[in-house]
Amino acid sequence: MIITLHTLCGVFYTKSAMESYNILIEHLAAACDVAIFTGAGISAESGIATFRDPDGLWSKFNPTELASMKGFLRNPDRVWQWYNYRRAIIADAQPNAGHYALADFEKYIPNCTVITQNVDRLHQRAGTKNILELHGNIIENHCVICNSPYIQDIDIQSKELPFCSNCGGNIRPSVVWFGENLPDGIYEKAEYSAGHCDVFFSIGTSVEVYPAAYLPFTAKNRGAFCVEINPTSTSFTPYANIAIQEKSGDCLPRIVELLQQYLKREYNAE
Ligand code: OAD
Repeated sequence: MIITLHTLCGVFYTKSAMESYNILIEHLAAACDVAIFTGAGISAESGIATFRDPDGLWSKFNPTELASMKGFLRNPDRVWQWYNYRRAIIADAQPNAGHYALADFEKYIPNCTVITQNVDRLHQRAGTKNILELHGNIIENHCVICNSPYIQDIDIQSKELPFCSNCGGNIRPSVVWFGENLPDGIYEKAEYSAGHCDVFFSIGTSVEVYPAAYLPFTAKNRGAFCVEINPTSTSFTPYANIAIQEKSGDCLPRIVELLQQYLKREYNAE
């Protein structure tokens, strides 16, 4: 087999990879609505562990003990301390080139929606405005009994579990645990975006946790041009129109650069 290498933004690619990028840019330049579904992989290059990779969180910790109401009721202190451990890592982390590139998408695409499973708020810190948090976030907290938001600052060094000033209930992080419903109305909004977009990205997710994992298939069934960015294959890879098997922090900035170049050429040609 002859593999011809071409350069694209200073990186060598095979001819077919170049063609894939070119096709993607044409679709993006023509798109009005783009939905971007992200998972833990987009934050991996910020130093935040994923869940299901060989060195991921679920290889070291038990999700039933740490990410379920049952586990919290059994040992609230252990769960609270685990979330404080994760909060400390997230507080020290910075958004990476992939997060910033997605924030730039909003400059070039009329309607761009990021639908994230991540709880780390790095998309927002990178500047993304239009975002749906399917699994809540690790920054906010609320009472397990009366659901009141807990607005006092959290001391992440402290092992003490805070209590609700309304009812005395335990305070928990406002993330979605296994077996719980997603925040009110959020899935409906995400499903609408996936079902009405021209281009759909699935980035850095293993596409294993439902109902979120239905979204790429919704987009595909409704006719969106589907792009997967993930160094490894997932159940969605065979259905993607283009699967880019690279790190998101490497390829997303390149996609933005190519889109900028394409739009500039189009503008100058008019
Ligand atoms: P996973 O850990 O299941 O999957 C992370 C994916 O990111 C894998 O497919 C990796 O191949 C990919 N990946 C790793 N590094 C990458 C990089 N630099 N660039 C792009 N991709 C990369 O994480 P999620 O799919 O987000 O839910 O997991 C979904 C949900 O399961 C999470 O929201 C969490 C977890 O349990 C709850 O806690 C409810």
